[in-house]
Amino acid sequence: MPIEHPDLTADTSDELCGDLGPGPALVISRLSYSYPDGRLALADISLAIDSGERVALVGPNGAGKSTLLWHLNGLLAPEGRVVVAGRPVIRANLPQVRRLVGLVFQDPDDQLFSPTVYEDVAFGPLHLGCREAEVHERVSDALGQVGLSGYENRLSHHLSAGEKKRVAIATVLAMRPLILALDEPSSGLDPRARRQLIELLQGLGLTMLCATHDLALAHELCQRTIIMDEGRVVADGPTWSLFVDAALLLRHGLEPVCQPDGVAGRQRRPVLRATRPTPGAGYRGGSRPGGRSSGVSISATTPGSGTGRRKTRSACWRKSRLGPPASSRSSRLARRSAGKRVG
Ligand SMILES: Nc1ncnc2c1ncn2[C@@H]1O[C@H](COP(=O)(O)OP(=O)(O)OP(=O)(O)O)[C@@H](O)[C@H]1O
Ligand SMILES: [Mg+2]
Repeated sequence: MPIEHPDLTADTSDELCGDLGPGPALVISRLSYSYPDGRLALADISLAIDSGERVALVGPNGAGKSTLLWHLNGLLAPEGRVVVAGRPVIRANLPQVRRLVGLVFQDPDDQLFSPTVYEDVAFGPLHLGCREAEVHERVSDALGQVGLSGYENRLSHHLSAGEKKRVAIATVLAMRPLILALDEPSSGLDPRARRQLIELLQGLGLTMLCATHDLALAHELCQRTIIMDEGRVVADGPTWSLFVDAALLLRHGLEPVCQPDGVAGRQRRPVLRATRPTPGAGYRGGSRPGGRSSGVSISATTPGSGTGRRKTRSACWRKSRLGPPASSRSSRLARRSAGKRVG
């Protein structure tokens, strides 16, 4: 397929290739953001992510997860400071920052705009200034990684939702970024594609911040989880330690995920209570930019954590595998037939 090379001034040197080097991959300090209509979407977020860390970003609809991710490569202008691999995200650094951070949008239609799959995936490498042979190689590798080899000539807008999502991920992989910002990467994927995605992401060895409602994916993929609600970080700590706190999860619109060998299985540990973090034993989300969590910390503004109902291992296991018990299914059906929204 012929490739038109744009008139490039892009830096094609290897300066940004390889490791991120020492120091945190990402530092966000006192980041706030309001949309033009005045809606406050992010309120005083501070956090740091080390090189190679995989961090899940979870929270209810409207918590601000996507808005946070959009700041990582300068799509939104911050009030506060975002630094990627030592480079502040400011206009002058945007070309470098965008080479470093690959952002997969929540809605693949925001990412795919070319007629064919090939052109969509080739777009990034072409604009990096890659030569034709390398563009071919990158497109072929990226499509292979998401299990879509042979889709090159398909029309992007004719693909199914899950196929579009995989192409969107391929467009970012083709850029070979060092940091991945993934917004709902597993949404719309069938179980096999989701499993392949988890294995792919585990194998990449990249720094990742992954916004997701798929807590099982978060548990498998990410050692650390940040819970956001109403534009704030309300908890930040090792994934297992947050995911065993059913009360914390439920309070922020999440549900416990239990697997036989997961958080409620043989790795089960005591539920952590919400307390003010002890100095040195963890940090309240956002208060220690530049550092790494060594424990769990739950915002002191979220009282009552750890006081709620604990699910037994068998109850969690049944729910994760079999769905909710019949009684709750029937009451849900009853509510649905009564025309109420089922949450
Ligand atoms: N363009 C916009 N203009 C005004 N408000 C917006 C805009 N985009 C998002 N918001 C608001 O900002 C807040 C955060 O939205 P955001 O999309 O970041 O949430 P989210 O955590 O990603 O939610 P979800 O889980 O549904 O994807 C929400 O209250 C949302 O309504
Ligand atoms: Mg979102």
